[in-house]
Amino acid sequence: ATEETLVLVKPDGVARGLTGAILARIEAKGYALVDLKLVEPDRALLEQHYAEHEGKPFYEPLLEFMMSGPSVAIRLAGNRVIEGFRSLAGTTDPTTAAPGTIRGDFGRDWGLKVQQNLVHGSDSVESAQRELGIWFS
Ligand code: CMP
Repeated sequence: ATEETLVLVKPDGVARGLTGAILARIEAKGYALVDLKLVEPDRALLEQHYAEHEGKPFYEPLLEFMMSGPSVAIRLAGNRVIEGFRSLAGTTDPTTAAPGTIRGDFGRDWGLKVQQNLVHGSDSVESAQRELGIWFS
């Protein structure tokens, strides 16, 4: 069924000038850009977005990282786009993400406390609706 998902090009992707390359892969796959904007999220927005990770060792470094510069927020649509984008993105750890994926081709371990893994994609229909409401209210 047609779905929508929230994709973020995170601060590392924007800072490294990879926004265009990442968007090109999304467009080449055939998904539709419904809305897109540059965002500098405040702490309150990120606490909502990452509520499930509160208390984990990487939570504070993750919020610091996400506040270190702008992200590109994308409302993306298509049949099975949630699993499709996660497949394009590759697994969370960029060191071992498969070559051919965004994280596998462009990411690596920079020796920091947080995985700088270039992109975010919602993991379920429920997460997508929740996250789209946070970033595109
Ligand atoms: P994302 O899928 O956007 O949501 C949670 C983020 O936390 C994840 O991407 C990574 O950036 C980061 N993350 C997840 N697991 C770890 C971990 N074990 N160590 C450091 N950072 C992590």
